[in-house]
Amino acid sequence: MDYIKLGKTDMKVSRIGLGVWQFDEYAWGPMDYERAKSIVARAYELGINFFDTAAVYGRGRSEEFLGRAVRELGLRDRVYIATKIPGDWHRRGDVFKSVENQRRRLGVDAIDLIQLHWPSCWHNVPICETMKALEELVDRGLVRYIGVSNYPPQLLEAGRWCLSKTDIATSQNRYNLLERDADKELLPYLRRNGIALIAWSPLAKGAVTGKYTADNLPAFNDVRRNDPLFQPDNLRTAEPLIAEVKRLAAKYGKTPAQIALNWMIRDPIIYPIPGAKTPEQVAENAGAVGWSLSEADWAALDKISREVSEKISYVTF
Ligand SMILES: NC(=O)c1ccc[n+]([C@@H]2O[C@H](COP(=O)([O-])OP(=O)(O)OC[C@H]3O[C@@H](n4cnc5c(N)ncnc54)[C@H](OP(=O)(O)O)[C@@H]3O)[C@@H](O)[C@H]2O)c1
Repeated sequence: MDYIKLGKTDMKVSRIGLGVWQFDEYAWGPMDYERAKSIVARAYELGINFFDTAAVYGRGRSEEFLGRAVRELGLRDRVYIATKIPGDWHRRGDVFKSVENQRRRLGVDAIDLIQLHWPSCWHNVPICETMKALEELVDRGLVRYIGVSNYPPQLLEAGRWCLSKTDIATSQNRYNLLERDADKELLPYLRRNGIALIAWSPLAKGAVTGKYTADNLPAFNDVRRNDPLFQPDNLRTAEPLIAEVKRLAAKYGKTPAQIALNWMIRDPIIYPIPGAKTPEQVAENAGAVGWSLSEADWAALDKISREVSEKISYVTF
């Protein structure tokens, strides 16, 4: 495993992390604690030391499973735990209450990275009220670093102006070979400011691997049934990109998931956190690190990705 410094933190993290939304069975289907623990254990064995969860994943269940696994495996001092406060809980009092509950569910004294999951879209809480509450939590040693998620750069910048002693260290956003709107404004801003992009859905929820097609959609009750990317038209639009991913997989003796992640980690500012439902998927994803696509192959894949991603539509009816 390779390691890098994550954004404006001093955390030396494995070149890919692990997202544990998959511990939320309402979204992703059956997951018991023992399987969740085996996923965390395998990830750590392979050198992965950064885990991303959120309060809303399974209404606290993902945090509980992650915290319990880390504790039972004796990993607390060896791994970093990132979690998120939903956009509905951004009032000062709610930020404190949420973090207290999250520390309890995770079983940790301090949360390494607390992220605002999405902006306060519906409650109109002033951004500085939330940011100053987070800064106070850093001061008190209950949180180590602050991040945002799903913030446009203008709002991220506004949030930074509220802080006087610390800064926003990371920005977690959708980013993969099929969904690249972050390229337009967000990534240039993050690059200029040394803020890491933590890429969510780096495998496009499995779509970039080619295992799902218009005629072979994920299970009926899966979160992906409502994801615009999994509309048959979009999966058909994605076909040229998937063909290129598969061609490169064959050429390099790698899997499609490994090609998709390796494309992404060429950029030092981008940090993928693929989710996994089995220890085998963790191992496969960890195999994206430690080698590189050639310059020419990377550029060809990047070009097709730019063309195809512009044709994806999020309109569902
Ligand atoms: N901040 C946010 O708003 C936000 C939003 C979404 C996600 N996230 C975070 O980002 C993490 C990752 O995103 P994600 O879960 O949406 O999507 P993802 O990482 O792109 O895809 C994960 C899914 O792809 C499949 N998969 C995993 N490894 C694979 C492999 N090697 N080969 C083939 N298929 C594989 C698995 O599902 P199947 O086996 O069922 O196909 C898995 O559930 C989440 O766990 C969460 O921590 C954050």
